[in-house]
Amino acid sequence: MENVVLGIDLGTSSIKTIAVNQQGVVIATVSEPLALIQNFPGYNEQDPEAWFEATKKTIIAIVQDSAMKDKRIAGISFSGQMHGLVPLDKSRNLIRNAILWNDTRTTEQCEQLAKRYGDTLLKNPILEGFTLPKLLWLKQHEPANWNKLDIFVLPKDYVRYRLTGELHMEYSDAAGTLLLDPDTNEWAKDIANDLELGDIFPPLVASHCRVGVVSDALLTELGLAEEIAVFAGGADNACGALGAGVINEDQTLCSIGTSGVILAPENNEGLNYGHNIHYFKHALPHTAYAMGVTLSAGYSLNWFKETVFPETSFEDMIEEASKTNIGANGLIFAPYIQGERTPHGDATVRGSFIGLSGSTTSDQMARATIEGITYALYEAIVFMRQAGKSIDHIISIGGGAKSEFWLQLQADVFNTKVSKLNYEDGPSMGAAILAAVGLGWFESFEDCVKQFISTSTTYTPNEDNHQRYTKYFEIYRQVYAQTKDLSRQLLAIEQN
Ligand code: XUL
Repeated sequence: MENVVLGIDLGTSSIKTIAVNQQGVVIATVSEPLALIQNFPGYNEQDPEAWFEATKKTIIAIVQDSAMKDKRIAGISFSGQMHGLVPLDKSRNLIRNAILWNDTRTTEQCEQLAKRYGDTLLKNPILEGFTLPKLLWLKQHEPANWNKLDIFVLPKDYVRYRLTGELHMEYSDAAGTLLLDPDTNEWAKDIANDLELGDIFPPLVASHCRVGVVSDALLTELGLAEEIAVFAGGADNACGALGAGVINEDQTLCSIGTSGVILAPENNEGLNYGHNIHYFKHALPHTAYAMGVTLSAGYSLNWFKETVFPETSFEDMIEEASKTNIGANGLIFAPYIQGERTPHGDATVRGSFIGLSGSTTSDQMARATIEGITYALYEAIVFMRQAGKSIDHIISIGGGAKSEFWLQLQADVFNTKVSKLNYEDGPSMGAAILAAVGLGWFESFEDCVKQFISTSTTYTPNEDNHQRYTKYFEIYRQVYAQTKDLSRQLLAIEQN
């Protein structure tokens, strides 16, 4: 029997589970869709029991996969959508649906926190998506539920609890609550006391810590015979970076999914970023990371394709865009179609095309969209560099790594080397690495990453192109200030 580990990624739209052997080869992959509950505008909830049911389905499907015939599952770990509030009562029953990271009902609570503590709290911006404003919302708007609250956890912690009966939170996800002190790695009890939250905190563990085993009753239900060790897991961005081998200070991740992320590991606690750059714990010990998030990266390109090129494939649309010139005939796209996080932290600003002319073609608009998404990511890089971070080699994953044109464009805009991976499996691979290291298959994260992850092509920046993109980027940076009030006025008309 060959040993494998399972990496379970609890996303927002689906759960993806992979089985990986000791060589880092993915033996089987299964996904299950998840639905959102959106009862009011801006509300995004999910039923944590639906996560558990979907997780079980993926495990059963993996076990039944013919490729798993001679395999034994030795360990399981997780990656999870961050920030979602899962409130539990004294008997560890769910009090209500989880309130997710993309739920924006908490603007008022963010304002209350900003009034009390200033623009940043525990080295992070105060944003609607984070968990602390959700706790305050629960306290203010659902007092009956608040009174039942005994402990809160985050999404993947609940699934792990249902598999093992053990309740924990790990540092990489705890960092996104706005209640973890990044300097001491302990709960910020002073803030909790100040806000009269009470003692609602789960014990903290490291991401590769063994926290229990799959319960006996579940082993039978899942069609499994032997004991399976369960390891804590990590936040999806931390696991995405780990699964791309981005664990050292000299590496940076650019991930273009629905949102776009620039993530740079670091050990220097002295850097102070501001500009809505997040500062969270990585999934490996003694490492943090700085992260800029543009909310609508792939989402913008998808919106553009569905609106302008509904019958064309992404590949063909990008191919045609690549034949147009840098700067798309003087057209700039600002990808704020659902607001923006880094650097503006503004839920009400909206997107724009600046520079449309009678000769603008749809291919140039596609190029402008791709360039605008890349400028939004570059802006995060610029602020990180300004804070003292050196960024000169980027590993690119997700949608932006699927096209040579976009990879070269990233290298030219960012003015860095950009590499893509030989094979990528996203945050579920990071989760698998946590189980592999937790089981002791490797002596260190470095050894495991060396075995599991490798890069293929590297793209080097073209200096002339960078100079040309920089001219457009400087104009792009002015678009926010010049359009934010217009966006607000438009929104006000729409809301009346
Ligand atoms: C990070 C964030 C998202 C969620 C979604 O701050 O809000 O990336 O983790 O998965």
